Amino acid sequence: MKALLLISTLFIGIVCAIPNGPRCRCTPREPCWPSTARWKALNESIDGNLVAVKPVGYVCHDPSFDQDACANITAMQRDSVWRSGEPGALQHINWEAWPAKQESCYIAGDRKIPCGQGRISRYSAVVHTPEHIQHAVRFAARHNLRLVVRNTGHDFLGRSSAPESLQIFTHLMKNVDFTDEFVPEGKRDRRAVGSAVTIGAGVQLAELYEAVGKENKAVVAGFSNTVGAAGGYILGGGHSALGPWKGMAVDNVLEFKVVTARGNHITANDYQNQDLFWALRGGGGGTFGVVTQVTLRTFPDAPLVTAFMNITQLGNANSSYWDGMEKFHAYLPTLSDAGASGYYYMLPNVHLPDFGELAVTSVIFFFANNNIASADKAFAPLLSSLNAIPGLQVDYASEQLPNSASLYQSSLKGSDNTGTVAVLGSRLVSRHFFESRHGPSTLTSVLRKLKYPPGVPVIGHLVAGGQVAKNKDIQVSLNPAWRKTLVHFVISRGWKEDTPLAEQRSIQSNLTNVEVPMLKRLEPDMGAYVNEADPNEKNFQKSFWGSNYGRLYRLKKKWDPRSLFIVRAGVGSEHWDKEGVCRVRGRD
Ligand SMILES: Cc1cc2nc3c(=O)[nH]c(=O)nc-3n(C[C@H](O)[C@H](O)[C@H](O)COP(=O)(O)OP(=O)(O)OC[C@H]3O[C@@H](n4cnc5c(N)ncnc54)[C@H](O)[C@@H]3O)c2cc1C
Ligand SMILES: *[C@@H]1O[C@H](CO)[C@@H](O)[C@H](O)[C@H]1NC(C)=O
Ligand SMILES: *[C@@H]1O[C@H](CO)[C@@H](O)[C@H](O)[C@H]1NC(C)=O
Ligand SMILES: *[C@@H]1O[C@H](CO)[C@@H](O)[C@H](O)[C@H]1NC(C)=O
Ligand SMILES: *[C@@H]1O[C@H](CO)[C@@H](O)[C@H](O)[C@H]1NC(C)=O
Ligand SMILES: *[C@@H]1O[C@H](CO)[C@@H](O)[C@H](O)[C@H]1NC(C)=O
Repeated sequence: MKALLLISTLFIGIVCAIPNGPRCRCTPREPCWPSTARWKALNESIDGNLVAVKPVGYVCHDPSFDQDACANITAMQRDSVWRSGEPGALQHINWEAWPAKQESCYIAGDRKIPCGQGRISRYSAVVHTPEHIQHAVRFAARHNLRLVVRNTGHDFLGRSSAPESLQIFTHLMKNVDFTDEFVPEGKRDRRAVGSAVTIGAGVQLAELYEAVGKENKAVVAGFSNTVGAAGGYILGGGHSALGPWKGMAVDNVLEFKVVTARGNHITANDYQNQDLFWALRGGGGGTFGVVTQVTLRTFPDAPLVTAFMNITQLGNANSSYWDGMEKFHAYLPTLSDAGASGYYYMLPNVHLPDFGELAVTSVIFFFANNNIASADKAFAPLLSSLNAIPGLQVDYASEQLPNSASLYQSSLKGSDNTGTVAVLGSRLVSRHFFESRHGPSTLTSVLRKLKYPPGVPVIGHLVAGGQVAKNKDIQVSLNPAWRKTLVHFVISRGWKEDTPLAEQRSIQSNLTNVEVPMLKRLEPDMGAYVNEADPNEKNFQKSFWGSNYGRLYRLKKKWDPRSLFIVRAGVGSEHWDKEGVCRVRGRD
């Protein structure tokens, strides 16, 4: 015991002596915090775009309570469009609060509890240009500030917020430019590599789809309105309904422009800064610099089929429902071979007020570049085997769309429903597993043991296979497990604003210690998708990046030697506490 103590004291001594910066970030209570004059100078350098931030909910709390203003934001609190534009808000309210310090400022919280700043940044640099970003980055480095890159605030791991931080808010960088002959910077022969769209850091998916649709083009991007197209989504890999057709979003990046930790604005592509280009394609948001714009490959748009299916069983889920799930999962490789992609929602525990209990799986699949006859043909054997199970009702419908753009026009409606607490746990499951003899039954027995709060689905994302698998030799830092994946499973959990901290912790801990490990045991060597995962993921380095972690770690040291860009469960974050505020002893 004594020896252990001695050893750990020694380690702390070593950590204090490391040459790459102070142990903790500077906080507002310390003399190192920039003076008013310094903040004013930063403000001037970014053309007056520095904002002192308060959590949006502050008008709903005494002594700053304001009836009209509070009513106003209460009406908007689930609106992700509004949330994306507010430096003082995030999409998932658990990341606005700082439970350890009992600081929160919930819009729907008790008016008498004073508004605490929580994890909302103190200042926001509302940047319009790369130069603004350069000034903010240099300022944060010079003053040893906790720096946060915040785009839409959708992050599920809390990577776009941190206590007592300076925020770089990229939301207003909305440029969208098309070309049919994109020439990457630094390419010697100046020959074009094809058609592409260049988008600013703040462009959101609905905006991208609208622009791309007008050009009769298609682009690989996520299934959401307000998630950012150029920020955390793509830096973490980016899965898409069009992935099985054209690959992961990162497979289709031609070039990034990025402000580095040293404050330089540089280009990363196949011809210059190739190592950074590799790291940015999957290494995770907020880690290797601030991306100012991304160039994505575009494709001629093509007809697309949407197939809907409901598998319904009346009453509480019994073995008929789970037999159906086993058959469904066993059939997924066949659907994948027919070109299917999409999402399914398993809800074994729905309660309809005027109806009663229901177990249902709701499926929405797509067949890109395809026609309705072949989609229906691919589904037919599954429909008959499900119909043979007593007690199941199967409804199927399909629809031919002229192009992928109209899919987004019909299914995406401006806003995403956010503004609640959301924590996720997830796992990538391989095609090999689905095809193995006991795969579908083992999977189903685990799905059956998970807890389903009423109306909360476990979601299966059929977003890999096809071209995602075929692209296995593309050199990107994306988790290599994606190339073997067929389905990305996501469990979500939440709680109310007034749920006691101990109960919040037990929900979170159950996810981390019980539920995610149940899925993980299916295939311990696969992994999880960094953008939709448990913020407390164990052994996150291996889960999120597999064999790519070592190189990512070395490149992190190269491109950010003083660890300016630290995010929860990000590359290099093992040397920091969870908020990225103080260094801790970590693996090296
Ligand atoms: C409703 C919804 C739907 C989703 N659908 C999909 C989907 O279809 N496919 C999919 O793959 N994922 C999906 N996601 C997950 C999504 O990819 C992540 O939430 C992602 O982190 C969002 O990135 P953002 O830039 O919009 O958000 P933010 O929270 O602002 O940023 C996320 C991370 O990226 C960093 N970051 C942001 N901008 C930059 C930049 N310019 N330079 C450097 N770092 C930056 C931030 O620091 C943070 O670490 C969805 C999420 C939600 C909430
Ligand atoms: C920054 O400057 C602008 C314009 O002068 C001003 O409106 C704003 O309040 C300043 N921001 C801060 C944090 O002082
Ligand atoms: C409420 O919102 C509307 C529309 O966004 C705005 O015009 C109005 O000024 C707001 N009212 C208050 C009291 O904030
Ligand atoms: C499951 O419940 C449904 C609806 O009540 C019923 O028709 C079916 O027979 C049940 N299945 C089994 C295996 O009990
Ligand atoms: C599946 O159920 C949903 C919700 O009840 C319904 O809107 C949809 O039309 C159903 N789909 C099919 C194919 O029946
Ligand atoms: C933890 O998860 C297991 C498995 O899903 C579930 O049976 C159990 O009820 C959960 N416990 C809590 C406290 O949520």
